[in-house]
Amino acid sequence: MTNKNNQKQKKKPISIYFSDNQLPEKLKKSSFQTYSSFKILKNEERIIINLEKSSRLNQLQKNFELISIGLISANLCDHDNYFVDFFGCKKSNLKNFFLGWNLASYRFQKFKSKKKKKLYGKIYNDYEKEIKRLSDSYFFIRDLINAPANILGPMEIFQAARKFLKKFELVNFISGKKLESMFPLISAVGQGADERKKPIFCEFVMKKKKSKKKIFLIGKGVSFDTGGLNIKTGSGMSLMKKDMGGAANCIGLAKLISDYGVDVDVSLLLCLVENSISKKSFRPSDIFKSRNGSFVEIGDTDAEGRLILADAISYASEKKPDLIIDMATLTGASRVAMGLEVPSFFCNDDDLAMNLIDSSKITGDPLWQLPLWYNYANQLKSNHADFRNIGNSMFGGAITAALFLEKFVQKDIPWIHIDLMAWTKNNYYEGGEAMGIRALLNLIKKI
Ligand code: BES
Ligand code: ZN
Ligand code: ZN
Repeated sequence: MTNKNNQKQKKKPISIYFSDNQLPEKLKKSSFQTYSSFKILKNEERIIINLEKSSRLNQLQKNFELISIGLISANLCDHDNYFVDFFGCKKSNLKNFFLGWNLASYRFQKFKSKKKKKLYGKIYNDYEKEIKRLSDSYFFIRDLINAPANILGPMEIFQAARKFLKKFELVNFISGKKLESMFPLISAVGQGADERKKPIFCEFVMKKKKSKKKIFLIGKGVSFDTGGLNIKTGSGMSLMKKDMGGAANCIGLAKLISDYGVDVDVSLLLCLVENSISKKSFRPSDIFKSRNGSFVEIGDTDAEGRLILADAISYASEKKPDLIIDMATLTGASRVAMGLEVPSFFCNDDDLAMNLIDSSKITGDPLWQLPLWYNYANQLKSNHADFRNIGNSMFGGAITAALFLEKFVQKDIPWIHIDLMAWTKNNYYEGGEAMGIRALLNLIKKI
């Protein structure tokens, strides 16, 4: 064996300390490289990571931060093999560190003529199978969101889901005239798009699964959101290929539920449309009879997400499931309040909400509750129909959007609505992102 190969085989130790006190005496005076939430010392033989600086963080942020720490560490470690030889915490607390390390290698280079290659060290750990499962879903979600809308329309999202969800079967694929009568709001939003981008509703269920608990996952899949006739500004439109991020995340979550063999009956509903501008586009002031029979007046064609979700939520409600979860890049207002990294969530059941908050903390996958504040519901009133798809106030836009959706959830069915960015930007990566799916998986395992 050559010398080089010998080196490759050798595993170098990484020691992870959670406080200065834990550090061996001789290391206390060494000069560490400092990052915002940790310090690192790397030499020929080993790596020492000191998380003392993260001690001020709460449980959610500490667990979230471990992903970044894993990512940054991986970027400092090329080609060598590593194993963790000391950690001043429960082993399972380091899962996110390993996940971050694994996510570091992600690149979206499909459309780069020259592909950049960077080597990453491999880290051995007890969670390799789990990290691989999570990364598979993360990479799928990122790839799907990053694909531009000239390549990826409603049909291509459907095809990608079908290919990825090997353990699921397609039980519904509805488009054209059938869509217009069965899912009128999905049809209305998509009516302006050309034939190649025609709107689709589809449903996948897990094969041969019969569990006592039935849950629905519903994803907003707007392949591109121009705003419709209420057209967005140039800057407002620039990221709108990611408006199918809710659907992408639901597909990734459905895959995780089946990979983990969670004992639930899952139905995945995808509302796939392009919100485009043409002579066939739906108009502000149009009135449509929705799937559940209520009449909706269009106040703004840019509030399209809640329209397509409404019909899917009605459909899910008819089946009387134990839980409905929808995921959507629904409002700019939620982003103004929370920034890119923290999705907001709404829930009609307090115990369920507490459970989700707990799952978010444990997994380090941020989700933050906003209220279904019923006093704002009257903002959705309409002069000529039952209600409008936008509120009549400048304030609380994420809440009025959630209240609009809530009108379609049948009473007593537990429901979670997630308003997410599905996009991230840091020193290492900018692009589509999985959000909330580890927290939701943890919750679903418990129901
Ligand atoms: N897809 C957008 C929301 C969005 C914008 C999410 C930017 C993330 C980042 C959605 O369809 C939309 O346009 N919503 C409008 C609603 C308004 C017209 C009531 C919004 O938030 O401005
Ligand atoms: Zn919109
Ligand atoms: Zn949208």
